[in-house]
Amino acid sequence: MVRAIAVAFAACSVLIAGCRPAYESARIIATGADIIPRPVRVESSQGTFRLQATTPVIVQAGAEGADSVGRYFIRTLAAAGGMELSLVTRTAVADTDNAVILSLEGSLRTGFGDEGYILSVTPRQAKISAAAPAGLFYGIQTLRQLLPPDAFSSVPLQGVLWSVPCVRIEDVPRFPWRGMHLDVSRHFFGKAFIKEYLDLMAMHKLNVFHWHLTDDNGWRLEIKRYPRLTSIGAWRVDREQDNWQKRQSQQPGEKAAYGGYYTQDDVREILAYAKERYITVVPEIEMPGHSVAALSAYPEYSCTGGPFTVLPGGYWPNVDIYCAGNEGTFTFLEGILTEVTDLFPSPYVHIGGDEADKANWKKCPKCQDRIKGEGLKNEEELQSYFIRRIEIILNARGKRLIGWDEILQGGLPPNATVMSWQGMGGGIAAAKAGHDVVMTPTSTCYFDYYQAKSGEPEAPGGFLPLDSVYRFEPVPDDISPGQRPHILGTQANLWTEYVPTASHAEYMVLPRMCALAEVAWTMPELKDFDDFLSRLEKQYSRFDRMGVNYRGRTVRSTRP
Ligand code: ACM
Ligand code: ZN
Repeated sequence: MVRAIAVAFAACSVLIAGCRPAYESARIIATGADIIPRPVRVESSQGTFRLQATTPVIVQAGAEGADSVGRYFIRTLAAAGGMELSLVTRTAVADTDNAVILSLEGSLRTGFGDEGYILSVTPRQAKISAAAPAGLFYGIQTLRQLLPPDAFSSVPLQGVLWSVPCVRIEDVPRFPWRGMHLDVSRHFFGKAFIKEYLDLMAMHKLNVFHWHLTDDNGWRLEIKRYPRLTSIGAWRVDREQDNWQKRQSQQPGEKAAYGGYYTQDDVREILAYAKERYITVVPEIEMPGHSVAALSAYPEYSCTGGPFTVLPGGYWPNVDIYCAGNEGTFTFLEGILTEVTDLFPSPYVHIGGDEADKANWKKCPKCQDRIKGEGLKNEEELQSYFIRRIEIILNARGKRLIGWDEILQGGLPPNATVMSWQGMGGGIAAAKAGHDVVMTPTSTCYFDYYQAKSGEPEAPGGFLPLDSVYRFEPVPDDISPGQRPHILGTQANLWTEYVPTASHAEYMVLPRMCALAEVAWTMPELKDFDDFLSRLEKQYSRFDRMGVNYRGRTVRSTRP
């Protein structure tokens, strides 16, 4: 099962890599279209196509997925323009005047993969052709950006001329993994914002939502076997008025009432929303470190036995982690992962693995017995033992393990994928050893970092301006051409210690998400920062219509 998943992802990257030569020599004949991420080839011509209330969206009868893409487009236009186009299914979709046509053509798979598309707009019609519904969906995202920015309005507008310039676009993504992460533990973000985040991702043709659901500061996912994870682990004492690093822990008699969590029904709702947008949701369940929220609810799985309370801020180093010597810890985690894998269709489960301070493992008789019993050299190898056992649980359930680059310590589990965050080195080592990698180094992918040298809302540190994100190259020079397909792609991360509100989160990711989209989707030879900046102006107009906050040209207040 795991092998099948691995092959599917490898095939995907090879397919996409295989598309590249055809386009490496492609010349941009004309842009004339402010599309982000920049497509492979844009050829403009005279004239426009006008969408009217009578314009049908035509899909092939029986073309699975195409109708849902059509309905998605109709809904977005109805929300912005109050104009409800009709979905029409036909056995042959070819040459219909005054129509938006979504055409699935298997022959396009060679060269365009499942996510590429051709969009052809003439005065008579707008036609999107793709090998798979995902490609149609990305064609629709491009069509939306060819419409006036009003197409992104969050309120229905009257009297807009919904015209599209005539153009032919051929497009295909560079990487199969185009991710955005969101930490909902340090601050909890409700369903409405998660959907908005997914909408922003879809607009930028990003396709992996890495949902950081657990950490020291809150457990956010209902687990039916272990109800205390949310009845206790989701709540902390409210210290929001104090600096994150200086927050006093919960005192006797104080009530832990700040937080929240997602029920499994909430998650199913989010998953359906993501699926409609061709986004895979990768859940992250942190272990063995960053686990104080879980241990506050179930202290018996720590080395010391606790007690603990959910941390209201940052405490460093954090020695209270899962006990690797206690068999019960693995039973507990298997119970959690059973529910997680039942709930999430993603082929990957992220198990964290970062920043586990091993001080308690050094002192714990059970952990030391485990080291002796398993013939391990040290606590690093104990961590590797821990992660290998978790990989066996996940693989048995048909899932692949992905973890932060610390999972390299003491030896990588055989099928693991590495998310390289402490620079590119972990990713390079993993790719050289034949493992898949997602590149997300702090220096170019940490969207909690400052966006400018002054005038910004408080952040944990770091400096990541827009152009640094834009210039990121996820494929390092020092891996061989044969190893390059192991670089699945890239992702940016939004840690939320200093991000308490949705509006602040928008501000941190926009417009850096636009630059990330171009790193992840656009062929490197087509990237041009100045050209990107000129296209960004139109993107800002779209954000204005959506009513989202963004850093943009001037610094805005991020507080509600
Ligand atoms: C991380 O930033 N600790 C993955
Ligand atoms: Zn222990």
